[in-house]
Amino acid sequence: MLLRSLFLLALAALPLSSAGPSCAHHALHTRRHRTLGRLNVTAHEQHLEARGLKVVKSCAVPGSAAITMDDGPLYGGPAATLIQQLGGHASFFVNGNLNGSCIYDQADLLRQYYDAGHLIAAHTWSHTDITTMTPAQLNAELDLLETALQKILGIKPKYFRPPYGAFDEASLGILEARGYTVILPIGRRTVVLWDFDSGDWNPTVEPEQSFALSTTLNYPQPALMIFHENREETATEVLPHVAPMLVSEGYKLKTVAECLRASPYQSVGKPSARDATWTCEGTPGTVW
Ligand SMILES: *[C@@H]1O[C@H](CO)[C@@H](O)[C@H](O)[C@H]1NC(C)=O
Ligand SMILES: *[C@@H]1O[C@H](CO)[C@@H](O)[C@H](O)[C@H]1NC(C)=O
Ligand SMILES: [Zn+2]
Repeated sequence: MLLRSLFLLALAALPLSSAGPSCAHHALHTRRHRTLGRLNVTAHEQHLEARGLKVVKSCAVPGSAAITMDDGPLYGGPAATLIQQLGGHASFFVNGNLNGSCIYDQADLLRQYYDAGHLIAAHTWSHTDITTMTPAQLNAELDLLETALQKILGIKPKYFRPPYGAFDEASLGILEARGYTVILPIGRRTVVLWDFDSGDWNPTVEPEQSFALSTTLNYPQPALMIFHENREETATEVLPHVAPMLVSEGYKLKTVAECLRASPYQSVGKPSARDATWTCEGTPGTVW
């Protein structure tokens, strides 16, 4: 309890907004706050539902905590193993070509997640704000990631999280037009935001602060928690504290699909064998 109070004090003393000035990653994530809310999700909910597209910010199942990790596959291995040992599963919103890391080079790690029962979901190919893309660019990005997930795992993802939480009518329209969003529950693509931000996207937020934030959750109120796989301490320091704590409070560690009581993928099939097409060469990428 004392430890918990100390963490909370540390948190209060170091607000999440105190960020280093020159980190490109942070600059990009600051943009998230500008673009988030470009579309008033609450106001559009009925409209979106009618188009077969669902935007979710929270879990539906009481007592469930959905630990989600963005921006991989990269450093999430230890966290995936730990969460599995705790009898739970996490969700990985992966990119294709981010900061010099190519999804095809991480195929074994991705398979390890998938084989352990973690959910694999989409976070664009190059981690670009989708509201800045032309329709052709966004379609190409979705093609590239879907092709990679088809080859490596044999799946077509159902859940999509836009980088920086940014989306608008035009980009949602493209997601819809790709057949994910027909008005049938089974074909839906679900845009997943979050209701708990660990702050780990901000390099000045220490692992202790991310952990302290987690202690503010109120069981059994469900939590849809965002973490990042490109922050190594998240997998090696933050989640080894957070995951067991959540379990000891009574939470079940569920995938996003489980915590929404929904199916995990649009389709599940057989992966293919590695060949010369397993490359990120010549594809869009972002370097941080
Ligand atoms: C979003 O829409 C809801 C429902 O119409 C409204 O109550 C809320 O104030 C709106 N939020 C913003 C930020 O405009
Ligand atoms: C991007 O990659 C470089 C080189 O590996 C690394 O030093 C840097 O920390 C990475 N940036 C992020 C935000 O992960
Ligand atoms: Zn991201």
